[in-house]
Amino acid sequence: MFDVYSRYYDLLYQDKDYAAEVAYIAGLLDRYAVTGPELLEFGSGTGRHGRLLAERGYRVTGIERSAAMVAQACPAPGFSCQQGDICTVRLGRAFDAVLSLFHVVSYQITNAAVQAVFARAADHLRPGGLFLFDVWYSPAVYAQRPAVRVKRLAAEGLEVTRLAEPLLHPNDNRVDVHYTVFARDTVTGAVHTLTETHPMRHFSLPELDLLAAGSGFERVCAEAFLSGAPPGEDSWGLCLVLRKV
Ligand SMILES: C[S@@+](CC[C@H](N)C(=O)[O-])C[C@H]1O[C@@H](n2cnc3c(N)ncnc32)[C@H](O)[C@@H]1O
Repeated sequence: MFDVYSRYYDLLYQDKDYAAEVAYIAGLLDRYAVTGPELLEFGSGTGRHGRLLAERGYRVTGIERSAAMVAQACPAPGFSCQQGDICTVRLGRAFDAVLSLFHVVSYQITNAAVQAVFARAADHLRPGGLFLFDVWYSPAVYAQRPAVRVKRLAAEGLEVTRLAEPLLHPNDNRVDVHYTVFARDTVTGAVHTLTETHPMRHFSLPELDLLAAGSGFERVCAEAFLSGAPPGEDSWGLCLVLRKV
């Protein structure tokens, strides 16, 4: 997963407002009194959050499973990343906060994997440190229902069309999103087609509280990602802030 998709990742998400998200995250870190600059980012992708956080004075270490995503993530002063699995990573040092942004935790579809990610976050935090992440929120998934979507983008001699076809697995709290990407070279007319399936887990608040308690966290915030509204059927992206007790 992501090794082929990564070729078009930044283009497909060129309309995603990483600057606004980083302002929101920095606001949460301030609100919950994270004063130290050391951040560990789980699933750092192509490093867009990490580099913007580094520009604000944080020192960000990214962990990313896909070698292709790591290769696309240019290091910058204050931001570095390395290949690794957030279920098993052990850096042997503690950070002021652990971040995991853009549904990375939802990519952990088994109970064992989610528990492992919470445990690895706890391992890398000092007491009082924060684990901040966003996930798909079950009430919104069932109220809104995932739908087939088409996204079209163009840049530098390339036209990219992405088809997203979801398949619900209600007994597993999971949606498998089947992506087909058609990338057309506008000069030669050649079309590159790729397919990838991204299985996504969604979560309820009681489930997240149970996971948090099981790995030594307490919840300090649950709100709609970015808007800060109370979580509800209209908040597909739920933002959680947990404190290590
Ligand atoms: C939707 S992308 C988000 C990337 C980045 N955080 C962003 O906001 O652009 C999800 C990322 O999580 C990574 N990922 C998923 N599970 C992982 C795991 N167990 N360990 C490390 N990275 C993982 C994927 O490889 C992918 O790059």
